[in-house]
Amino acid sequence: MQTIVPQQVTARVTRAALFLVVVLRPDADAAARCRALCGDLAALVRSIGTRVPESGLSCVLGVGSDAWDRLFGAPRPKELHPFAEIVGKHHAIATPGDLLFHIRADRMDLCFELSTHVMTRLGDAVAGADEVRGFSYFDSRDLIGFVDGTENPVDDAAREAAIVGVEDPDFAGGSYVVTQKYLHDLQAWNAVPVAEQERIIGRTKQDNIELDDQTKPSCAHNALTSIVEDGRELKILRDNMPFGDTAKGEFGTYFIGYACSPARIEKMLRNMFVGNPPGNYDRLLDFSRAVSGNLFFAPPAGFLEEAGQ
Ligand code: HEM
Repeated sequence: MQTIVPQQVTARVTRAALFLVVVLRPDADAAARCRALCGDLAALVRSIGTRVPESGLSCVLGVGSDAWDRLFGAPRPKELHPFAEIVGKHHAIATPGDLLFHIRADRMDLCFELSTHVMTRLGDAVAGADEVRGFSYFDSRDLIGFVDGTENPVDDAAREAAIVGVEDPDFAGGSYVVTQKYLHDLQAWNAVPVAEQERIIGRTKQDNIELDDQTKPSCAHNALTSIVEDGRELKILRDNMPFGDTAKGEFGTYFIGYACSPARIEKMLRNMFVGNPPGNYDRLLDFSRAVSGNLFFAPPAGFLEEAGQ
């Protein structure tokens, strides 16, 4: 019988993360390899993680909309669909991606080891892949210098925000995941006075205090991403990570958001890219460009185990 234990969606924030997005070949062999990996993934994580238990190795596997049909068929998670691009003041692009492996640990060697096993197991089922290695930067800052993750829900609130419940009984325990890779124009950002940067984010830079309502503009990042419906705030669970390549001059934030419904993340994205009201968009996007965009569903742990049988 399928259990409703979620994957490690609400795993603690770690010092390192590896984001692996894979495009699969569209044939039956590739699907069979992939299902076999689904069944073995938890054991792989145990094999590697047990060697350094304090590192907190975890992995969440997400499946894209097209891949879902090829791998598992019906039934489908009710709200799974391809990432819908948004063209507003700025452009949220949609990019190819069948599987997401969100690998977290305090040490990159463990993330790397797991990723190596995953790619070896998938072998020639893989038609393309994108890997981003993220690191925790000082006191959980992103490369634009602000503390990222403060208003994340924790414990029961995190599960309530991120995990599908009775509204989709076949997939209770699953979670929708949106990922976007952002590249920052740090030279332009660093030329902006700190007080203005703080109005863009909606918090102070040094000590990470939320701006009061008189000071915070309605286009602040944390205003546009605060979604209230029927008097209730609709939260998501984020675990963004900075990444960079100084030789290439590439500096970014890998955005990852989990939610019990993709609709709330999509609303945040519309507010950011189109504006709320339209035109009142997120000024952070004048300095940060989304170069990928994907939506996945992370089924419950028991579903993955059964898929491998
Ligand atoms: C360049 C990419 C991004 C950067 C650098 C970034 C950075 C930040 C920072 C510094 C905060 C304030 C501290 C905190 O509460 O975490 C924040 C808050 C938040 N961000 Fe982002 N973010 C990015 C993209 C996104 C995207 C794409 C979404 C959603 C679609 C999002 C959703 C949120 C939410 C929900 C909050 C908390 C708002 C609140 O309740 O106060 N962020 N982000």
